[in-house]
Amino acid sequence: MTNDNNIQTRHRNALDQLAPRGQEHVFRWWDDLGDVDRIRLLNDLESINWTVLDELITTHVVARPDSDHTTDIRPAPVHRQTPDAGQEQLYDRALKRGRSLISQGKVAAFTVAGGQGTRLGFDGPKGMVEVSPVGERTLFQLFADMIVAAGRRHDVTLPWYVMTSPANHDETLNYFSSQAFFGLREQDVRLFPQAMLPVFDRSGRILMADKHLIALAPDGHGGSLKALVASGALSDMQQRGVEVISYFQVDNPLVKPFDPLFLGLHAETGSEMSAKVTPKAHDLERVGNVCMSNDRVRVIEYSDLPEELAHSTNTDGSRKFDAANLAIHLLNVAFVDRVIGQAFQLPYHRAEKVATYVDDTGDKHTPEKPNAVKLETFVFDALPLADKTLILEVDRAEEFAPIKNATGDDSLASAKDAQVARACRWLEDSGVHVPRTKDGQPDLSVVIAPSLAMDANELRAASDHIPDLRSGGWYLLE
Ligand code: UD1
Repeated sequence: MTNDNNIQTRHRNALDQLAPRGQEHVFRWWDDLGDVDRIRLLNDLESINWTVLDELITTHVVARPDSDHTTDIRPAPVHRQTPDAGQEQLYDRALKRGRSLISQGKVAAFTVAGGQGTRLGFDGPKGMVEVSPVGERTLFQLFADMIVAAGRRHDVTLPWYVMTSPANHDETLNYFSSQAFFGLREQDVRLFPQAMLPVFDRSGRILMADKHLIALAPDGHGGSLKALVASGALSDMQQRGVEVISYFQVDNPLVKPFDPLFLGLHAETGSEMSAKVTPKAHDLERVGNVCMSNDRVRVIEYSDLPEELAHSTNTDGSRKFDAANLAIHLLNVAFVDRVIGQAFQLPYHRAEKVATYVDDTGDKHTPEKPNAVKLETFVFDALPLADKTLILEVDRAEEFAPIKNATGDDSLASAKDAQVARACRWLEDSGVHVPRTKDGQPDLSVVIAPSLAMDANELRAASDHIPDLRSGGWYLLE
């Protein structure tokens, strides 16, 4: 068959699928397009799984899905970082087990970096944001430093999996290559893109991003579970003997991807998927709430937690729902394999967003108000599918400083401050003098590279290597 015939056949087949669904407008400019653009359009259209989308358009795009039916919402039981009475032996065993899991190469790091980062306003993959207060290290570089350092400490090769999206995959991969994979071996770093879904207008019509492009958006971080399987990453883990996936988002420079206590408690309690939480900054903080509902652990986003529950208190006046989801999870490889194998379907969530589109006359618009409906799944919706879940409460200042906004809370500036503040605490904990201003703020910029220490205990052991720290100084301690 000639290329021409082939394109015509594909066009006819696509039209057969689209016309009964009222989506044939995607071919409005077909006659004006050259072969390259026609093929691109056909490729995108052929990637659409209509079996799933037909129903979703009715239930989630044209209509809003029934509001969250989560009932019987209660606080979830959490383990704290120091053992309660009677838990000492469990914590001792857990620490040993966690270290042994790492040193036996049974843990892999997994970063989800497929999001669009629209709130941050950075034009490029978020992992390429320079996040270190000193030394200009990017988020990706920082995670790589942690993985290299943990591998050295435990004398093992620790693999790193990174989920991108088709929109940022090439740029991310080029960046990793240009940085020689940050000192990791290329075969131990695996980047793979997640799937995309069409973006619709409110009547359920696919929006056109250009005359030859349907509007597409990443299918949510829940898509990471499918992408692990589809990309072959999960089989790669199985071949390497990896048993636990340490999942984290690309936006948090304080994350500890190889935390022996978290790993050990997860394993000792026989958990399949676990979560780290921290007390909320205030009742309505824009985070997910890790809760129990009908005896299952669930994450309820701030927008879905009824306000009277968000404000409710215990008898001692403390906040009742006080477990902010840090989006740091452990998932057993066997668990991911099981849920994907069982015709797994995470629930879809509807989000209204601004999307640039081409109208029926061919003019391009970027509206100011949301005009588009995106569909996403969330990884934390896998929690209720786990037979057992361990929830570990950690100190926010030690492990959570996400970069979400251009300014203010959860911004690049606040994440840099959090890194300096943590470094200063570790230094003082090791008996090192840290110059501070009158109001107690660090009067210097200092970074502790993972090669030197990944927690306060490690820094204590290395404190002989630390120079005198002077007011106004810039220090990269490595
Ligand atoms: C998320 C969580 C929230 C949690 C908070 C902690 C959701 C809906 N909520 O909020 O419960 O308290 O983080 O920081 O996730 N990503 C992909 N592919 C996608 C979409 C996102 O890889 O299709 C990645 C992003 O690159 C990012 C992460 O997932 O690393 C988080 O996405 P984002 O949309 O920023 O979540 P938040 O609303 O900040």
